[in-house]
Amino acid sequence: MKLWGGRFTKETDQAVFAFNASLPFDRRLYRQDIEGSIAHADMLGRQGIITETEAGQIIEGLKGILADLENGSLDFDEGCEDIHSFVETVLTERIGEAGKKLHTGRSRNDQVALDMRLYTRERLDQINGLLKDLLAAILAQMEEHVETYMPGFTHLQKAQPVTLAHHLGAYFEMFSRDRSRLTDCRRRMNYCPLGAGALAGTTYPLDRNYTAGALGFAGPTRNSMDSVSDRDYLIEFISDLSLIMMHLSRFSEEFILWNSNEYGFVELDDTYSTGSSIMPQKKNPDIAELVRGKTGRVYAALTDLLTTMKGLPLAYNKDMQEDKELSFDAMDTAADCIRLFTGMLSTTTFRKDVMERSAAKGFTNATDAADYLVGRGVPFRDAHGIVGQLVLLCLERGISLDELPLEDYQKISPVFDQSVYEAISLKTCVEKRTTLGAPGPAVMRQVIAQYKEELKP
Ligand code: ARG
Repeated sequence: MKLWGGRFTKETDQAVFAFNASLPFDRRLYRQDIEGSIAHADMLGRQGIITETEAGQIIEGLKGILADLENGSLDFDEGCEDIHSFVETVLTERIGEAGKKLHTGRSRNDQVALDMRLYTRERLDQINGLLKDLLAAILAQMEEHVETYMPGFTHLQKAQPVTLAHHLGAYFEMFSRDRSRLTDCRRRMNYCPLGAGALAGTTYPLDRNYTAGALGFAGPTRNSMDSVSDRDYLIEFISDLSLIMMHLSRFSEEFILWNSNEYGFVELDDTYSTGSSIMPQKKNPDIAELVRGKTGRVYAALTDLLTTMKGLPLAYNKDMQEDKELSFDAMDTAADCIRLFTGMLSTTTFRKDVMERSAAKGFTNATDAADYLVGRGVPFRDAHGIVGQLVLLCLERGISLDELPLEDYQKISPVFDQSVYEAISLKTCVEKRTTLGAPGPAVMRQVIAQYKEELKP
């Protein structure tokens, strides 16, 4: 049934109907639409705008529709323009006259604004929960690898030794910030647009505080024109998702590198990797590659929304119906990616021996050799030059600093003695980094204890 046939004398063109319709994608708002309508009808009854009996009939009718949609006995009717028309049509078919009163003091403009907010709020909470699971998975691996040495990189060149716990901890920080962004976004969006009407409020004595409270909002929104045309909360949420995806994509990139033959740092579990149809030896990091690849879809939704909104005069414009398809896809994509990545991370075996061997090669202790000289009174700039010469010597001979004989050290600087080997050992290099935020196991254990505290329910 159409909600607006009265002033028309001709039927809508078929192609126009299909182009205009949103039911194919806004059907996923059915539960939020019904919950919003229940709160609205309840309030209309309490305020005496409709009778309590009518309100009761409407609420029972809506509950029946919800149950039937969920148990599959009611199908979406493609003849309806959108989810709002569909629910109202079925309601009126089922309960008669009272159903026609549901839309009193309401417009589809504040209705859809409400539905989208309710839906976005739920997905935000879901994704926040998934991030918490991801953080728990990172933390579990960190606890196992406080003393797993590995090279830290800059410019993708071996730089200084770190530990795997330290490296993973960087991602713990990123995803923690993402969670706090979600919390901020939720707080800002948690106001109820219902009662804004088409754009200018209504003349009925609506109790907007009541509906806002019934639907779990902190209160009603304060400007009706803004209420029906605001999609900032959605843009903010998708931008939070974009950051999450950017972080996941970087993490995926590390896994892809670490899984390569050249690195060999990780052994992906068979359940989280795939093979090649032609090359029998292959074990591919497809999950990580897909997460990296799908990041673009989420950015696309952000760009799409920003672009859709940038030219819209107040208040509602039909362009805003375009807020749904790509943002739904972005929410689904981000949720899947977080879930799958968490599974991959928890089942991965890190190859401690390979990582440690890699850290021991590539002069990751060169800074520590310079610091050794500094500890014996050599100015840092001179120490840097001396160790540079030692590195050159090692490169010519194809050995590491640990393997260079003491007499060679002493030829370049007499300040060196036997104790240099201890000072530049991998263990010392990592253990001596004890300032907050550094990889030293003692300080890392303190940080891990804080992370654990933060993840407590
Ligand atoms: N399907 C519409 C949307 O998603 C619902 C609001 C329709 N309002 C209107 N005035 N045509 O935005």
